[in-house]
Amino acid sequence: MRGLAKKVGVVAGGGRGIGAATARRLSEEGAAVVIGDINQAWAEEIAVSIRSGGGKAIGMYLDGTKAASQAAIVKAALDEFGSLDFYHSNLAGGTEGDVDILNCPENVLDNSFAINTKSHFLATQAALPVLLERGSGTMIYTSSGAAISGNPIQVAYPMTKNAIHALVRHVARKFGKKGIRANGICPGVVMTEALKQHLSEDFAKAALAALPHTRLGQPGDIAGAVAFLASDDGQWINGQVWHVNGGSVLRD
Ligand SMILES: NC(=O)c1ccc[n+]([C@@H]2O[C@H](COP(=O)([O-])OP(=O)(O)OC[C@H]3O[C@@H](n4cnc5c(N)ncnc54)[C@H](O)[C@@H]3O)[C@@H](O)[C@H]2O)c1
Repeated sequence: MRGLAKKVGVVAGGGRGIGAATARRLSEEGAAVVIGDINQAWAEEIAVSIRSGGGKAIGMYLDGTKAASQAAIVKAALDEFGSLDFYHSNLAGGTEGDVDILNCPENVLDNSFAINTKSHFLATQAALPVLLERGSGTMIYTSSGAAISGNPIQVAYPMTKNAIHALVRHVARKFGKKGIRANGICPGVVMTEALKQHLSEDFAKAALAALPHTRLGQPGDIAGAVAFLASDDGQWINGQVWHVNGGSVLRD
C-alpha cells in the first residue's frame, strides 16, 4: 500500500481482535502505532510484540469514554512519534444485557451509547484539531453490519453503531475541504476472541452456511481495509461506510 510508511496513527481498542490485527498490519506497512485499550496489559503486549518484530509501537491505557483519556492518547502519538496521520476508532463493548426493546434496561442503552458512540465522538474531538492543523489526516471508525441488517436480538448495539455513520458523514462533509477524510467499516462475522466468547459454534456454522463465501472473516480481513483507508491509496475515499463481510450483506 502506498504512503503508509512513516505515517503515525492511533488504534483505539487495539488490545485484541480486529484492533490488534490492524495495529500489526499498519506496522507491517511501516506506520508507527499507538495502541490504546481499557485493558492496558493487552495494549502493551501487542506493542511489545510489534516492537520485537522491528516495528514501531507503544501500548497504553485508554478509556475511550473519557475526553481526558482521548486527549492523552493523541498527545502520546505526538510526543512519541512526532505526528498524527490517522485515528482508527475501533473500540466497542457494553453488550451485556442488550436484548430486545421490550426487555433492554435503560442503563444498558446508556452504557452502550457511552462505549459505542460517545467514544467515537470524543476520539474525533481529540484527534481532529491536530489533523486540521497539519492540513490532512483520516478518521476510520469501526461500525458493524448489525447497524443495518435488522437485528432482532439486540436493540442498543445496532442503534449505537448507526450513530457512527452519521458521525462519518458529518466529519467528511464538514472537513473534507480542509484535507480530512472520515470513513467507517462495518465488519460481518469476524472470528475474534470476543465473538467466540459470545456466540456458539452453531451460530458460526449457520453464519457460514448463509455466506456467499468459503469462510467466515478473520481480523486481518478488516485490518487490510483499515490500512487501505489510512494509506495514500485511499486518498479519494471520503464519507463512506464500507461493508467488509464476505458478502453477508449485499448492497451498493
Ligand atoms: N468480531 C466481529 O464479528 C465484529 C462484527 C461487527 C463489528 N465488530 C466491531 O469491530 C470492533 C472490534 O471487535 P472485536 O471483535 O475485535 O472485539 P473486541 O472486544 O475484541 O475488541 C474491542 C476492544 O475494545 C476495548 N475496549 C472496550 N471498551 C473500551 C473503552 N471504554 N476504552 C478503550 N478500550 C475499550 C476492549 O478491551 C477490546 O480490546 C468493535 O467495534 C466491534 O463492534 C466486530
